[in-house]
Amino acid sequence: MTILVTGGAGYIGSHTCVELLNAGHAVVVIDNFCNASEESVKRVQKITGKTVKLYAGDVRDRALLDKIFKANKIDSVIHFAGLKAVGESCVKPIEYYDNNLVGTLVLLDAMRAHGCKSIVFSSSATVYGTPEKLPLDENCKTGGTTNPYGTSKYFQEIMLSDVYASDNEWKVVLLRYFNPVGAHESGLIGEDPKGIPNNLTPYIAKVAIGELKEIGVFGDDYDTPDGTGVRDYIHVVDLAKGHVAAIEKVTAAGVYTYNLGTGIGYSVLDVIRAFEKACGHKLAYAIKPRRAGDIAACYADAGKAEKELGWRAELGIDEMCASLWNWQTKNPKGYDK
Ligand code: NAD
Ligand code: UD1
Repeated sequence: MTILVTGGAGYIGSHTCVELLNAGHAVVVIDNFCNASEESVKRVQKITGKTVKLYAGDVRDRALLDKIFKANKIDSVIHFAGLKAVGESCVKPIEYYDNNLVGTLVLLDAMRAHGCKSIVFSSSATVYGTPEKLPLDENCKTGGTTNPYGTSKYFQEIMLSDVYASDNEWKVVLLRYFNPVGAHESGLIGEDPKGIPNNLTPYIAKVAIGELKEIGVFGDDYDTPDGTGVRDYIHVVDLAKGHVAAIEKVTAAGVYTYNLGTGIGYSVLDVIRAFEKACGHKLAYAIKPRRAGDIAACYADAGKAEKELGWRAELGIDEMCASLWNWQTKNPKGYDK
């Protein structure tokens, strides 16, 4: 199949391009590089020995989308392009809704115009808001999101479901990611956050390499085994393979929702210990106040994806930390060497 990957130069997108190419699919990427480097696409080609057809531009550029759909027979779209920083979304809600919602609308309109009615969408466990129960399954209530980023994911799920309701020929797959971490085993592609990382594992990696002084542990008084926040970390390569499964296994029209997680929750201290093992030395950390908006624990029931897609996460916390450390040490300054 020929897959259009929006945001394919980004963290999850680049890893998914590798798995799609390895599975024998042709890949067309559109990315405006607002949070990525063209270098990642070059490295995807290096890893796979295959070519990616790259269009530099914005998913809100309808004329460019027309050009892409005319020049390529696209069978399906995987839609990663969007802005994703929770804190920034509270400061720039207009930019976030514009990019994430308008981007998806323009893309859907172009897909409809060109008769491509198959889309896999990057959603997030954030749509569950405060979990009503654990583990979270796909029937748990959604909404109650507390920031524009999360709300944009929730709205996009509704928009996509409404498109199917209006035209039952569409195939819509909503993938709710838990916490993607780690990097490709080659160390050639990985997460390259701009500035000081907000997320836990990139922050730990920067402390491990000596770029930041100590890890701040946001709260040790949660109702969890060691008091620190518990999350379902999933290796980005497993996550990428989940997209290939969604593309290949979902063949009938409909709206399909899958959690992509491991089903295992690790605390902040568990992750620090696992990273110490990976990097071979102790890491300094200090307990800080809770971060606003954080929940105590979040992990998936990933049984539906296993049953229906034949997919399950295979890599554990040690592989996640080791691969991130490999990427960090080989690319201390990310893609901009
Ligand atoms: P990322 O920022 O690395 O990738 C997003 C890519 O989209 C970037 O390459 C960026 O340049 C591009 N982009 C953004 N706006 C665009 C636009 N208007 N037109 C064209 N390109 C555009 O982020 P990621 O971590 O790879 O996330 C990919 C998707 O998965 C996002 O939609 C994100 O919200 C979602 N997601 C990510 C996580 C996570 O923890 N990383 C968790 C849940 C969901
Ligand atoms: C965050 C986003 C979420 C998004 C997800 C994936 C917030 C509030 N939530 O999830 O919407 O879908 O990323 O990108 O930003 N922690 C520390 N110290 C740190 C950083 C984090 O102790 O320096 C803790 C957090 O309190 C949490 C855990 O580590 O318990 C994981 O945090 P993080 O990596 O930011 O992910 P989430 O908050 O789960």
